[in-house]
Amino acid sequence: MDFTGLLLSVILCSSLCECGNILVVPVDFGYNSRMRNTINIGRIMMNAGHEVTLLLSDQIEHDALFKLGETNNMNKTFNVLHFKKPPVDPSKDINTLNQDHVVSLIGDAVDAFDTVLPIYFDLISHPLKDKTVWKKIASAKFDLIISDELMMVSRIIAATFNIPLILYENWGPMSFDANLVQRFNLAYVSAYVEPYSDILSFSERVFNVWDYFKLQNVNRKLFSKSFEICKELDYGDACDYIENADKIASLVFMNRNDALHYPLPLMPHVISVEGFFLENPKPLDRHYANIIEKAGKHGIIVVSFGSMFRRLWPELRTTFAKAFAAMPQTVIWSYEGPTPEGLGNNTILSKWIPQESLLNQPATKLFVTHCGASSSFQALHYALPVIGVPFFWDQPFYCQKLSHRVKSGQTVSLEGITSKKFQRAMKEVIENKTYKANAERAAAIYHDQPIPPKDKLVYWAEYVIRHKGAPHLRSQAANELNFFQYYLLDIIALVCCVCIIIGTVLVIIVKKVICFIFSNQKVKYD
Ligand SMILES: *[C@@H]1O[C@H](CO)[C@@H](O)[C@H](O)[C@H]1NC(C)=O
Ligand SMILES: *[C@@H]1O[C@H](CO)[C@@H](O)[C@H](O)[C@H]1NC(C)=O
Ligand SMILES: *[C@@H]1O[C@H](CO)[C@@H](O)[C@H](O)[C@H]1NC(C)=O
Repeated sequence: MDFTGLLLSVILCSSLCECGNILVVPVDFGYNSRMRNTINIGRIMMNAGHEVTLLLSDQIEHDALFKLGETNNMNKTFNVLHFKKPPVDPSKDINTLNQDHVVSLIGDAVDAFDTVLPIYFDLISHPLKDKTVWKKIASAKFDLIISDELMMVSRIIAATFNIPLILYENWGPMSFDANLVQRFNLAYVSAYVEPYSDILSFSERVFNVWDYFKLQNVNRKLFSKSFEICKELDYGDACDYIENADKIASLVFMNRNDALHYPLPLMPHVISVEGFFLENPKPLDRHYANIIEKAGKHGIIVVSFGSMFRRLWPELRTTFAKAFAAMPQTVIWSYEGPTPEGLGNNTILSKWIPQESLLNQPATKLFVTHCGASSSFQALHYALPVIGVPFFWDQPFYCQKLSHRVKSGQTVSLEGITSKKFQRAMKEVIENKTYKANAERAAAIYHDQPIPPKDKLVYWAEYVIRHKGAPHLRSQAANELNFFQYYLLDIIALVCCVCIIIGTVLVIIVKKVICFIFSNQKVKYD
């Protein structure tokens, strides 16, 4: 950039934006799309002219996936504050590198959350113990913190140094904390990540309410243990804000869009950021361009089960490999591990694929996905027919959104999966044009937005910097009502009392009148 350019950008920046000093706190227990998206928020803010610092553990840069995904992006761009963390033992620790542990989490999402709580206790205690990092934070004078909701340490930093805080919900229209994002009506709003539509049967409503209380129970465990750690390490009154995040968080950035998610009521402090992390895909390199050219008119199928299921157990990888082998398309599969038995010569395995660039190709006929929050937004954005194979966490929830709300594909459950079944589903979704048409309709709705998602995110972050917080967007009233007031049970009780009193008085009057008439008649006949 020449001098004039530099001058221009300085002038533009100082006139258009309140250039801030921002701390971004991703959840750090191994690299995955959730961390990638949070780092992306930092990158977007940096491109808007802000100074951005990431708070990361000193272990993450040894993570192989992190290197593949981020190293090239990290140089000379972000300031990084590293807090000390003991080295990860992939074979033992609760960590995304430990495949046995990852597989053990398949099942109920709330139970899985309960199992991984120790990760979050580590993620609060390590940065709090590292006094060097704490001193650096104190002297940095941040104007804003943008943090993954699950990083409790950011609440303590915000409270200690009086810095406005924005929390990020990667999973979509829910939070772990019902005080932060209220579930106004569990009759049609998902309490968490159950794969329901917004029209719930009786039994689904029972489970939805059950899920809500179960989640709040696990959440209380997270808060109380984090509070204990915070107090032990002597962080004083700031520890109260671990639980009372609703009193300190200015905004909630929620990964949500109307084309994908069901409508629900949200408070003004909740900002839908509409898949802001989608990139402008780079053109494909020679290697992949050749593959697509060779695939010819049949095109390609892109397969990715996310960062945690690039390795699969033997039966499952064979099931997939055989199904792919029977397809006329060329299959590009983001996969790591032993070559699956039955792998066809049309299937290409790769540890790391340029996923968005591939999805952006007209030759891509189908996206086989685990339905993570990020890949579901990719399916929506690139208008792709999908086969969803949900493993755990929010994946059944997002597969339901794609197959039942967008109607752009089918969900194949791991239970009872066979090569034949899986292949039939892929064939149906590719050949029946309804799926592609539905995907295109939803993509058109998704792209029809008054402001590009990245700009929306920047606007709201700068809004918080300009006004030094946004307490006026929060309803303290909604959080301070007790159970009886919130559900108007006191008013219902009052109405019932009045009805009972009126009813009783009426009965007494009618009785008296009847008695009076009868006694009069008796007098007449006597
Ligand atoms: C960033 O740093 C890594 C390792 O130090 C290096 O391999 C890579 O080429 C660098 N990337 C850029 C864009 O400078
Ligand atoms: C790939 O496998 C199919 C079926 O097994 C076979 O007909 C075809 O010739 C093979 N192609 C190549 C290039 O080896
Ligand atoms: C295509 O799929 C839609 C939606 O599942 C279904 O209603 C329709 O009957 C299918 N069409 C054919 C030709 O199979």
